[in-house]
Amino acid sequence: MDTAALTATAEALVAPGKGILAADESSGTIKKRFDSIGVESTEDNRRAYRQMLFTTPGAADHISGVILFDETLRQSADDGTPFSKLLADQGVIPGIKVDTGAKPLAGSEGETVTEGLDGLRERLAEYRELGARFAKWRATYTITDDLPSNYCYEVNAHALARYAALCQEAGIVPIVEPEVLMDGTHTIERATNVTAHALEALYRALFDQRVYLPGTLLKPNMCLSGYSATTQASDDQVAAATLKVFGYCVPAAVPGIVFLSGGQTDEQATARLNRMNQMGPHPWQLSFSYGRALQAPALKAWGGKPENLGAAQAAYAKRARLNGLARSGDYTPEMEAA
Ligand code: 13P
Repeated sequence: MDTAALTATAEALVAPGKGILAADESSGTIKKRFDSIGVESTEDNRRAYRQMLFTTPGAADHISGVILFDETLRQSADDGTPFSKLLADQGVIPGIKVDTGAKPLAGSEGETVTEGLDGLRERLAEYRELGARFAKWRATYTITDDLPSNYCYEVNAHALARYAALCQEAGIVPIVEPEVLMDGTHTIERATNVTAHALEALYRALFDQRVYLPGTLLKPNMCLSGYSATTQASDDQVAAATLKVFGYCVPAAVPGIVFLSGGQTDEQATARLNRMNQMGPHPWQLSFSYGRALQAPALKAWGGKPENLGAAQAAYAKRARLNGLARSGDYTPEMEAA
């Protein structure tokens, strides 16, 4: 295993002022996004939309890597340049989502286990040939009065670690994503407690399965009040609770924590990351790997029409720039109006 190369890639993904664009929506998810703007989810529309993002002028100043879906890694721009080359030529590292989705967990109503280990070694070898240098695997945990179960923490941690070990063998940096879903009426304290359990099980499994932590990144949720909770924690409370749990559970050998946005508004995702970086220094880089929070305004401005390309790219460039500023705590809400 080339540990130096893995470390170099992981560190490049969390370089100062930069973060990751998650553009790896599965076929079902991208259809939902396109439905919201009244655009049919055809292969060419998906290609045109991703091309709009990947050719945005200036985005590479703030975007270190892009997570792609299998289909996108095999697609090319209008001029025939493969997307992976188009990105790499701008200094943006191509990544790939490799799990095959969260499936019902046998014997535990309401919980999921993420699948995709069968044939993963062979798929990773092909993805590396196609230009991918990092990967993502997402496990999800639902909060109710009784869930998650210990069973759910353990099986998802085990699968995440098996995936991570296979990635490193293939020379690919694994991003491990344990996502505690924020649907529900629970308090921020409950979300914090569940996040701690998910992280504890994950880092135990990574240790047991001999995963080289400096060659990994963690992609977690922030600790939030349930979206339907009557009392919503403030940005300061979110930042403090999140930092506390990561301080307890994430080894300092991990180079970076790249948060998912998970349904927060664009501005909340930026402001909370900014606040956490203002509370530093921390043992790890605190960055972003946002899907919706980087893309939502661009998707809306695009609307599937070629003539909206400039407006869509401007919307994406703005979110990339503001999140880039949040990496050093230099974002202010007033910048939203500019
Ligand atoms: P969101 O930022 O939209 O949550 O997406 C990030 C992601 O990749 C979830 O797996």
